Amino acid sequence: MSISQPNTLLPVPSGPLQIPPLAPAPTGTDERPLRFSLVIPTYKESQNIPQIVERLTQLLDSVIPNEYELIVVDDDSPDLTWKVAQELIPQYPQLQVMRREGERGLSSAVIRGWQVARGEVLGVIDADLQHPPQTLLQLWSEIQRGADLAAASRHVEGGGVSDWSPIRRFLSRGAQTLGLIILPGVVGRVSDPMSGYFLVRREAIAGKTMNPVGYKILIEVIGRGNIRWIGEVGYVFQERQEGESKVTWKQYVEYIGHLVRLRFARWPVARFFRFGAVGFSGVFVDMAIFYLLSDPSTLGWGLTRSKIIASELAIVNNFLWNDLWTFGDISSKQRGLRKRVKRFVKFNIICLAGLVLNVLLLNLLYNVLGLNRYVANLIAIAAVTFWNFWINLKLSWRVTEVKD
Ligand code: GDD
Ligand code: MN
Repeated sequence: MSISQPNTLLPVPSGPLQIPPLAPAPTGTDERPLRFSLVIPTYKESQNIPQIVERLTQLLDSVIPNEYELIVVDDDSPDLTWKVAQELIPQYPQLQVMRREGERGLSSAVIRGWQVARGEVLGVIDADLQHPPQTLLQLWSEIQRGADLAAASRHVEGGGVSDWSPIRRFLSRGAQTLGLIILPGVVGRVSDPMSGYFLVRREAIAGKTMNPVGYKILIEVIGRGNIRWIGEVGYVFQERQEGESKVTWKQYVEYIGHLVRLRFARWPVARFFRFGAVGFSGVFVDMAIFYLLSDPSTLGWGLTRSKIIASELAIVNNFLWNDLWTFGDISSKQRGLRKRVKRFVKFNIICLAGLVLNVLLLNLLYNVLGLNRYVANLIAIAAVTFWNFWINLKLSWRVTEVKD
């Protein structure tokens, strides 16, 4: 670490909120990446900043001296928090300060800080000492044990809130319950999804574009990151000694909006709608052929035989549209006739399996339950559409292997 680091402010990144992978060290230097970058977002925390920086420095010097950095990201606080922090730099050379003047908000502040961070592990802690600094060492050892994410929690052993009003407790739990209903696969993975005190491996979130709203960045990290192992550490949420909380009703509204947005981001909704529209065009192909072949007034063929031919022609129709449109972004990365034929073969096999299901269902609905043959056919088609979408998504176009 250079001795005479000028205490200039960090540049403020702009553009998408995306964490870059760790840049390789410039050649000819023995500069190694830091092990840990801890972001301290601040708004009007000038009274707290000297103390939090001192406590964190003491703690981290005891485990990873010279291998970490503290990054204060201040939103141009009127009490000049950024300036107070900047004046501490000569005393704490591992401290860096960013002063944001355009953009605002807790979550984006954290991400802007991570964007300039040099550490392999990224973290966030409040500046107001409500997050006990000593918990950081337990979080760090969770990461050392192999966790991708280590989150401080008020709701595991050793955790709690010190002196919250029943109303705030109720709102906090209510928000969590709502989260569980809307987004169980994310919110259900941690006991304290509202926690703003956690560490995450950079590689788990590098390259993902974050779209955080308001205060809750942890659900964004779990929702969009590639997080396998989560470690939790209990902590007691301390009373604020200086300054004031910035939480208002607006944060609760934003939180709900955020959950809904993440919900949609996790489901391939747009793709399913396209697939559904293509399937709908297939219904007309299927119905028309089915009518021509099976209706007593036309060819009058058997139900099953007519259905198989009608469906196969619908499959060809659907494949062409899906390959061009529904999964067009993926097909354009898997060019060439051979690959297209391969996709068609897979699509066809999956759809044929779906067709077996379709025929069984049609027979059940028509012969056993006695429904009108066209109504029965419609129901069978709808059920098989879901099957077809999921299996094709996972196998034919392999969306899971395509990085976005
Ligand atoms: N840069 C920046 N911009 N920092 C902000 C902003 C902002 O708009 N708003 C708040 N902060 C900083 C505060 O200065 C503080 O360091 C931290 O973010 C948390 O803000 P508080 O206003 O103190 O939040 P809280 O105490 O009510 O909420 C805490 O508890 C929640 C658990 O329910 C925070 O830790 C949340 O992150 C946590 O989720
Ligand atoms: Mn606070």
